[in-house]
Amino acid sequence: MAAPVAQIPRRRFACYDYESQRARDSSSLLPVATLETERLILRSFRAQDVDVMAQLFANPDFMRFSLGVFTERKQTIAFIDKVMGWDGVGIPSQFAVVPRDEDALIGYCGFFYHPEHQIEDIEIGYRLHPDYWNRGLITEAARAVRDHGFRDWKLSRVISLIHPENIPSRRVAEKNGMQVEKEITFRGFPTLVFAITREQWLAKYGAR
Ligand SMILES: CC(C)(COP(=O)(O)OP(=O)(O)OC[C@H]1O[C@@H](n2cnc3c(N)ncnc32)[C@H](O)[C@@H]1OP(=O)(O)O)[C@@H](O)C(=O)NCCC(=O)NCCS
Repeated sequence: MAAPVAQIPRRRFACYDYESQRARDSSSLLPVATLETERLILRSFRAQDVDVMAQLFANPDFMRFSLGVFTERKQTIAFIDKVMGWDGVGIPSQFAVVPRDEDALIGYCGFFYHPEHQIEDIEIGYRLHPDYWNRGLITEAARAVRDHGFRDWKLSRVISLIHPENIPSRRVAEKNGMQVEKEITFRGFPTLVFAITREQWLAKYGAR
């Protein structure tokens, strides 16, 4: 798959100095990380993930609080192209969520960008196969992603964008040490901006 160049963020984010990262020699880009938690492996996406992800993106529960299910395979290909493109140019990206004890891909958790909505911050976003809900798995994943963002990418802050009625996601953000900062309209919907700064992360958790 070709990296969708047009979708790769090409600007300076308030919380991440993309230009100076890009200005470095490509050999100095951070290698794509694999994150390990007690129950999960968070690995980078691969082209071979299209089939499983297409099934997930077609599932209305997996796609709750979104613009709707994906009805065409090319939408999943675009998602995987996009995140593999971010990996390819060495910027914070999404992770495929894989249980340690199963050969299964059950969701995603990682970083998103929304410059087209005038949002300067990098978001931690996540979705999980409904069979795995309410076991604390995305909390585990989101914590690892948060720590990766502050520890390895040196982000100054991260946010999560959550519909006010999405109680499970609000709870995950709270358990991730985030607080509601404000309410905005995002993609036409009321949206709470949950945030945690690097200073708050250091004060709460120390340098992990
Ligand atoms: C949001 C989502 C990723 C959470 O994944 P998860 O692995 O089930 O999350 P966790 O188990 O780590 O935490 C969920 C928390 O919400 C709580 N919760 C779930 N449903 C709830 C409800 N109806 N009322 C109150 N609390 C609820 C759980 O009890 C848990 O909190 P606790 O640990 O304090 O008990 C999952 O629900 C999902 O994929 N939803 C659809 C997609 C989505 O909404 N993504 C986020 C977009 S912003």
